Amino acid sequence: MNGPVPAKVAAAVAALDSPSSAWIYDPAVFTARLGAVRAALPDWTVLYAMKACANPAIVAAAARDADGIECASGGELAAAISAGAGRVAFSGPAKTPADLAAAAICDIPLCVHVEGPRELDLLAAAGYKGPIALRVNRGRALPGSHQMTGAPTPFGMDEPAALAAVEQALRLGLDVAGFHLHAVSNCLDAAAYADHVLDALDWSRRSAAGRFDLRYVNVGGGLGADPRGDVIDLDALAEALGDVPGRYLAAGVELVVEPGRYLAAAAGWYVAEVVDVKTVAGQAFALVRGGTHHFRLPAAWGYAHPFQVVQGPRTGAVLSDVEVRVCGELCTPRDVLNGGQRVSSIGTGDRLVFANAGAYGWEISHDRFLGHRGPDLVVID
Ligand SMILES: Cc1ncc(COP(=O)(O)O)c(C=O)c1O
Repeated sequence: MNGPVPAKVAAAVAALDSPSSAWIYDPAVFTARLGAVRAALPDWTVLYAMKACANPAIVAAAARDADGIECASGGELAAAISAGAGRVAFSGPAKTPADLAAAAICDIPLCVHVEGPRELDLLAAAGYKGPIALRVNRGRALPGSHQMTGAPTPFGMDEPAALAAVEQALRLGLDVAGFHLHAVSNCLDAAAYADHVLDALDWSRRSAAGRFDLRYVNVGGGLGADPRGDVIDLDALAEALGDVPGRYLAAGVELVVEPGRYLAAAAGWYVAEVVDVKTVAGQAFALVRGGTHHFRLPAAWGYAHPFQVVQGPRTGAVLSDVEVRVCGELCTPRDVLNGGQRVSSIGTGDRLVFANAGAYGWEISHDRFLGHRGPDLVVID
């Protein structure tokens, strides 16, 4: 559940124009979360998966404080480079020839995460000289919100295909550094995530043996940070990994993790102002400026995102001691940010603050529908 609204966020909320729909980002929170990952996984390379939140201030913090940025499109690649990232990884299931040609002329260190044999031919044709990691779909599906491996998904290659791709890449003269094994998103189970890491390392070592010198194992993102507030226990993860990562590091294998959600979730707040309250068919409603076209995650996942009521100058009706459903300004009954949360009072002019919203919040939203004005984007420091 949400705690109190932090003072500097409350100040930013108070400064918004009315009626407000706004995203508020605090890059210092991002950097603190990065510190927690570094403390749990010392000597690992931490890339930020910018798909979680591409706000320029967050990307700038990642460029400055993380080891690099994981990009999933040509657009993200260009944004990461112009933000000053020292290094990038390039993923994505349907890269175009132009994407791969851009990788070939990238002038900062880059590793391409290869999804299939077609990309190998395109990389060779583009004259790409950097390292590659082959993305593999293997192992068991992990608990989390999006299972990407251990299930039929469009991502990566089955084990035999990945091993055939190693041979193909070597024949083409490409520099095979290792494997990419992103498996899941929002995994809150530290023991299961540790199993994934240990299994990925062991499989990579065995699969590279006799084929190429293993230098790179990327276990992907997926460190859990649930929008309702739970986070994966990083200490438990570190303990379950024990000294195994150290043995790989000592053998010259770079270990890479590329979290998005864990770093960005707590660094973003969505704010929506109540423009009306009413009761229909026995249900109390708060109707806000904004909604799921600015913050799609609750509708995409079908959960009730907790919120705090920041009382504004109330300009109209007030409901007291009710379980209220918070809906947006779209003419669809699916525009629901929270299907029912008990509040002591809520009224027109109040601002609802949704914490832990920074990951996959604005980025996955469909703001063209109905032509409403977009949200304000605010950065605090
Ligand atoms: C290849 C890849 N890496 C990293 C991530 C980041 O995952 P998360 O935000 O769950 O850490 C994703 C998310 O979809 C991904 O597809």
